[in-house]
Amino acid sequence: MKKDLIIVIFGSTGDLTARKLLPAITALYNSNNITQNLQVIALGRRDFDTKAYLEYIQKHTTKKLDMVTLNKILTYYEIQITEPQDYVNLQKFIEPMLKPDTKEIYYMAIGPEILKTVSKNVSQSKLIEYKNPNQVLVFEKPFGHDLDSAMAVNDMLWNYFDESQIFRIDHYLGKEMIQNLMTVRFANRILKDTWDSKSIQSVKIHVKEEECILSRAGYYDTSGALKDMVQSHLLQILSLVAMDAPKKYQSDYIKDEKVKVLRSLEIDQESVVFGQYKGYLDEENIPSDSNTETFVYFKTYVNTPRFRGIPFEILTGKKLAKKESYIEILYYPTDEQENWHLDILPNKLTIHIQPNDGVALNINSKKPGLKENLEEVTLSFNTSESVEGNIPEAYEKLILDIVTGHKTLFTRWDEIDASWHFIDQIKKCTNCVIVYEDEKDIMSHIHKK
Ligand code: BG6
Repeated sequence: MKKDLIIVIFGSTGDLTARKLLPAITALYNSNNITQNLQVIALGRRDFDTKAYLEYIQKHTTKKLDMVTLNKILTYYEIQITEPQDYVNLQKFIEPMLKPDTKEIYYMAIGPEILKTVSKNVSQSKLIEYKNPNQVLVFEKPFGHDLDSAMAVNDMLWNYFDESQIFRIDHYLGKEMIQNLMTVRFANRILKDTWDSKSIQSVKIHVKEEECILSRAGYYDTSGALKDMVQSHLLQILSLVAMDAPKKYQSDYIKDEKVKVLRSLEIDQESVVFGQYKGYLDEENIPSDSNTETFVYFKTYVNTPRFRGIPFEILTGKKLAKKESYIEILYYPTDEQENWHLDILPNKLTIHIQPNDGVALNINSKKPGLKENLEEVTLSFNTSESVEGNIPEAYEKLILDIVTGHKTLFTRWDEIDASWHFIDQIKKCTNCVIVYEDEKDIMSHIHKK
């Protein structure tokens, strides 16, 4: 029997709510993965009624929203977030909807500048009670802008809420192939036993985007690619690729292993490249002298017995040739080369994250025919082709896990602490930001280095 559910969204007129949260919630509701006794309360400062809110939000997004469902489950509620009394009133509004075991999710789809005010008010008004297991909060990044500020944010949250109530989102952890990483690595003998520096010569983690910064100048210019993408998404991927097997496949054991990796990272200082796409300075609301990077590349080493000495190449950027994210594991060729006249190629395992998701393994094979020749062939599977219907969006999986209380796909504070430690070091490596016209341009710069 599913418990009744209330999802309260702070920041409901924002882009995240329109593009990700409402579509995920309606999909979960329509597929019966969450209770039909669901109420979504969209909070905002504008003087809307529910109909006007829904019209507004549909008008401001290119995503086609499921208005039939939203009309059934959603209520707009006006609140001035700096006004403590408004939280007391909100609590009175919600109270009659509650049964003893109703689950309440408070989703903070808000900017970092107001996080403290909202956290303090929801706590002091008793809208959210410390350690109440039925009340949880969800926080989006950015989680600070360096180690010190991240610590301050975290201390502030721990002041008002218990860790068990806090869900820190990294939406990459909800992507199908990122969820699949542990299975691919640890449930396959052939990969598990070769996943170390004896067999693997290098690892690439590349997350490329075609789009520019869109309408997010205010946030993006203070952040840049390193903090926007690497601190969260790419380091999360790296930790899942490099970690040792957890003692148990449970949230805290998994995180313990991820943290060991993050704490062991060593940057190759010479390798760091920052780039800015040509035209960035002409984007609306970007200062004409901005030095913010929209591209970052570096090599890092994971100083653990498993991977010591093996380079991990990290690359992410905007305005590149196409949207494409993958992990590439390059093996050493077998040592039969000495005795064989054929050119043996190194095996390559590619884990495609998006837009296609799946796994491809390149192996050596005899070229069919009378001659003795070798060719590289690919064994592959594509997730989208192997399931019926749509693969759930990352946010669907994450929201479902919040409802059911599963924390594996959310970040624990020590992961964030360790990743900021590392990011702060990279930031110091160079002040040089190269302007690039296209992907070839920036890649040739890396290869020249
Ligand atoms: C967000 C970043 O976390 O991830 C954006 O803030 C980026 O700058 C986005 O575009 C990429 O996410 P996805 O799921 O489209 O790869």
